[in-house]
Amino acid sequence: MAKRTIVTMPGDGIGKVVLPEAIRVLDAAGFDAEYVHADIGWEFWCKEGNPLPQRTLDLLETHKISLFGAITSKPKSDAANELAPELQNKGFVYYSPIVGLRQHFNLDICMRPCRTFKGNPLNFIRRGPNGVVEEPEVDVVIFRQNTEGLYGGVEWTNPPDNVYAALASHPKFKKFADSPREELAVSTRIFTRRATERIVRAAFEHASQFGYKSVTVCEKPNVIRETSGMMLSIAKETATEYPGIALWNTNIDAQMMWLTKNPEDYGVIVSGNMFGDIVSDGFAGLVGGLGFACSANIGQEVAIFEPTHGSAPKYAAYTESIVNPIAMVLSACMMLEHIDENEMAARVRNAVARVVEKGRVQAYDMLKLKGSVDVLEKGAASTRAMTDAIIAEL
Ligand code: NAI
Ligand code: MG
Repeated sequence: MAKRTIVTMPGDGIGKVVLPEAIRVLDAAGFDAEYVHADIGWEFWCKEGNPLPQRTLDLLETHKISLFGAITSKPKSDAANELAPELQNKGFVYYSPIVGLRQHFNLDICMRPCRTFKGNPLNFIRRGPNGVVEEPEVDVVIFRQNTEGLYGGVEWTNPPDNVYAALASHPKFKKFADSPREELAVSTRIFTRRATERIVRAAFEHASQFGYKSVTVCEKPNVIRETSGMMLSIAKETATEYPGIALWNTNIDAQMMWLTKNPEDYGVIVSGNMFGDIVSDGFAGLVGGLGFACSANIGQEVAIFEPTHGSAPKYAAYTESIVNPIAMVLSACMMLEHIDENEMAARVRNAVARVVEKGRVQAYDMLKLKGSVDVLEKGAASTRAMTDAIIAEL
C-alpha cells in the first residue's frame, strides 16, 4: 500500500496535546504515513483574522484525509478584542472553523460510534429486577446529517419584508402575527432530499456492512411533519433494499428517555443535524463521555476525524497533561477504517479495550476525579502514560 499523506490539524488547547499522541499510536501500529501540519483555530484568528486559512483548505483539497484535534471559540466581543491591533475594526468577523470546514467541503455525514469498553468505570449501569445491577453493552453508531437543518444558518431576527410576507402566507402563522416583527426570531430547519437520502443511505450501508440488525430514524415526524417526515419516508423507501435490517422509528424526546432503559437494543441511528447532535451526546454519556467520544465528518471527497471534545483550555498548559487521549485515538481508528485499514484499526481498538479492561492505567476522568494538577499524585495516568499503555498493548 502506498504511503498515505494525512493532514493534521491540532488546533488549540488540548487538541495540540492529544493529536500527537494519536500519531504515536498510529506509528506503533505500523501505519505508514506522512503527516502534513495545517493551521487552524484561535491563534490564526488573532494573528490573521481567519481561523481557517486558505492554505489549510488547499492542503485538505490536495490530501483529502485529516485528523483534527479541537479548536477554541469565544463570544463575539472577545473575538473582536483579541484580534491583533493592526486587524481591529477592519471588518473581520469570527466564524467557527469546524462549521466552516463542514460547509466548505460538504462534509454532510457525521458518524459517531458509541461502544462500551468492558471494565470502563464510566460505563452506564442500571438496576434490574430484584435489585441486580446490570451493565448493558452499548454498540450504537449515530449518523447525523451534518450540514442542514437547524444548523443550516438560514435565520433572522426581525425578518425582512419578503421573508415576513412568506411566513405570513402560512395559515399557522396567525398566532405569531400579533407580535411586533422586530421581536420575532426565526431559525429555519431545511432538509433537502439529496442530503437526507445520503445520510439515510450511509446509515443502512453501515448497518449492512457491520451486521447491525436495525436502523432507527430518531426524529419527530408526528410534529415536525415536513422535515422529519421526509427523513422517515426516505428511510422507508431505502429499507426495502435492505431486507435483513429492521427500520425503527423513535421520537427524539422519547429516545432520550429510553436511553437509560434499553440502550443495548439500538444499532444504527440516523437523525437530522440537531437531533443527531443531541442523541449522540446522550449515547456517548453511557460509554465514557468526552474522554471516549470519537467522530468522523465525511464528504464525497474529504473526510475529517476528530474527538467530540473541545480544546479544554483549563488543561492546555499543564506541563504533564492529564486529559484522556482515547477519544482522539478512537477517531484515528475511524480514519483507518475509512481508508480500508480495517485490520490495523481493529488492532488499535483492541489495544485500547485491553488497557481499559485491565484497569491498571486510568486517566483522571476514569477515576472520576475532578481535573487538577494533583490527579497524577492520586493515581491518575497522564495523557502520555495512557498512550504508552495503549502502545504497550499493541
Ligand atoms: P471541552 O470539551 O473542551 O471541555 C469540557 C470538559 O470536558 C473539560 O473541562 C474536561 O473536564 C472534560 N474533557 C474534555 N476533553 C477531555 C478529555 N480528552 N479527557 C478528559 N476530560 C475531558 O468543552 P468546553 O469547556 O465547553 O469548551 C472549551 C473550548 O472548546 C471552547 O472554546 C469551545 O468553543 C471549544 N469546543 C470545541 C469543539 C471542537 O473543537 N470540536 C467542541 C466543543 C467545544
Ligand atoms: Mg456537540
